[in-house]
Amino acid sequence: MPSLLAIESSPRGDYSISRQLTSKFIEDWKAQHAGGNVVVRDLQKTNLPFVDLPWIAGAYTPAEQHSPEMKQALAASNELIPELMAADHIVLGTSMYNFSIPAILKAYIDHIVRIGVTFTSSYEGLVKGKKLTIILASGGVYTPGSPTEGYNVAISYLKQVFGFIGITDVTVVLAGGTAAVDMGKAKLPELIGQFEPAVAEAARA
Ligand SMILES: Cc1cc2nc3c(=O)[nH]c(=O)nc-3n(C[C@H](O)[C@H](O)[C@H](O)COP(=O)(O)O)c2cc1C
Repeated sequence: MPSLLAIESSPRGDYSISRQLTSKFIEDWKAQHAGGNVVVRDLQKTNLPFVDLPWIAGAYTPAEQHSPEMKQALAASNELIPELMAADHIVLGTSMYNFSIPAILKAYIDHIVRIGVTFTSSYEGLVKGKKLTIILASGGVYTPGSPTEGYNVAISYLKQVFGFIGITDVTVVLAGGTAAVDMGKAKLPELIGQFEPAVAEAARA
């Protein structure tokens, strides 16, 4: 039975473009994968601590020697990694914040990139055979090949870090230009509609 993990990160609830497109992806994916299992990981509802000293010490200590402090620090990581490993396809909905990703998503990444678990000490990724679709909502437009492309650090970073843990089959949907809706210069349904074909295509994979 195919499995989809949908990671949501925007704090904007129903106003969020990335959430609306990720929901559309889930519907399209379900239609294409009858009986498939969908898990939603909403980072806004996941109380993620930042990596701290017990987390780092625990990551470099065999599990059977973990102190109670290390166990507690690694609890989120120990929940999130099996969830990721169980998925065949991951759809990641995110906003662009300051040309990169929101801190909440970076906190998630810091929990799932873990030596001996998702990559080896010789830097081989251990999360293999998965597809990743990234849906990035941004106020501005960062079309590949245009002069603004280089400002989009979010996609280059996400491709690099997911590739590092072994996820290299990546599809990107750039949902740029959302500021026009906020400024009343464009209508939300039209903007969303612009990106729906790319979302549908990604969900078919
Ligand atoms: C704190 C913050 C930083 C932002 N930084 C950028 C940015 O660097 N570039 C950009 O194009 N849009 C930026 N935006 C606009 C968001 O990317 C845009 O509103 C997007 O639609 C948010 O995603 P969401 O609709 O899924 O919540 C920023 C918005 C916020 C709140």
